[in-house]
Amino acid sequence: MDHFTYRDGRLHAEEVTIAAIAAEVGTPVYVYSRATLQRHFHVLREAFQGIDPLICYAVKANANLAVIHTLAALGAGADVVSGGELRSALAAGVPAGRIVFSGVGKTADEMAAALQAGVCQINVESVPELEVLSAVAMSLGRSAPVAIRINPDVDANTHAKITTGRREDKFGIEWTAAHAVCAAAAALPGIDLRGVACHIGSQLTGLEPFRQAFMRLRDLVVMLRADGHAIHSLDLGGGLGIPYGCEDGPVPAPAAYAEVVRETVGAIECRLILEPGRLLVGNAGVLVTRVLYVKEGATRTFVIVDAAMNDLIRPALYGAFHAIVPAIAADPAVETRPVDVVGPVCESSDTFGRDRALAPVAAGDLLVVRTAGAYAATMASTYNARALVPEVMVSGERFAVVRDRGTIDDLLARQRIPTWSSDDAAVTVGAVT
Ligand code: LLP
Repeated sequence: MDHFTYRDGRLHAEEVTIAAIAAEVGTPVYVYSRATLQRHFHVLREAFQGIDPLICYAVKANANLAVIHTLAALGAGADVVSGGELRSALAAGVPAGRIVFSGVGKTADEMAAALQAGVCQINVESVPELEVLSAVAMSLGRSAPVAIRINPDVDANTHAKITTGRREDKFGIEWTAAHAVCAAAAALPGIDLRGVACHIGSQLTGLEPFRQAFMRLRDLVVMLRADGHAIHSLDLGGGLGIPYGCEDGPVPAPAAYAEVVRETVGAIECRLILEPGRLLVGNAGVLVTRVLYVKEGATRTFVIVDAAMNDLIRPALYGAFHAIVPAIAADPAVETRPVDVVGPVCESSDTFGRDRALAPVAAGDLLVVRTAGAYAATMASTYNARALVPEVMVSGERFAVVRDRGTIDDLLARQRIPTWSSDDAAVTVGAVT
């Protein structure tokens, strides 16, 4: 459930109309609902009552400080995958002791920053990474709290680009090698091996892959303990899917997911860590965009809006479905017709939705792309020299801009033309003439 609802025919984010935000902040704009973030966190925590895992919000889903801060205030930790995300989590108030550092390619500098901050766990994904971490820890005179990320060779049955737990994926250490790798880890100075981790993919709409992976993890913990390793932490990753609208089937409820956790690893006597991203923030955000033109093409009608694939790349990159609704509800008596909602970027992939049944819209109308709280603003780029979109957070009747709109001045200010460039141009021109 989220807090984006129509009242008197106008779409609201909590108590504020989308139209009011667009009028004040302009479009395109991302709008987040704080109450929705809080609700999602509570639902997840309640599902796990009695187990009380450390819920480390996967910052990559939405790294806005106000979003992280909202979750941190409820007791969330953070799962970070870069030095930048580490700084974001700390800046938003997540205690270092609740931060897990994941990722397949951490640099030595990032490892040092994590150790200096005092993160609770570093999830290591290869033997060379272990060796570098050992050297970094020794140079700082510290011991690195390590979990080995296992690749359990389980197909998550999700989009190929976001499945991570099959043998052929770049993630984790092949589960059959866990025994040898953990022995190597235990022998390295500066490494405190204390846990096992896995993450098999994102937007999972079935529970069976989780069950298979968690059973494998349980067996591994038993085996590693028999080898003499003190394993007290078990990180189950993220990945639980969310509903995106009419084109997807039902997704498992957090309570059903928690049941799978209970049944598989509930009795293992480890501190459990979860790394949910999308589940917490996905339906807590929308992208608000304005119609620029309605163009009657030869075979289709195009609704051209001011947001584009650089602002929200999921439809272009994964063929993802996002519901698109008007900010002012259409009269139900008016017939809808199929239109393509497209952005201004010069690629046909810049399409938010094809054949969407919308009541007629006109230039100036506001459309709202739903479920844009996760992997949306965080994946934005400045392609086509388009400035980054601002972000707004709503809480009840209040709203605040929580990231300013980027400026073209800023884009240009970060670039320079080398002094010798004009000389080369002169030579080239000379050669041609
Ligand atoms: N933990 C690790 C180690 C991860 O790699 C991820 C996501 C998560 C947790 C959080 O997964 P979630 O609960 O959000 O499913 N850009 C893609 C999704 C990429 C997910 C990458 N890893 C998308 O827009 O669908």
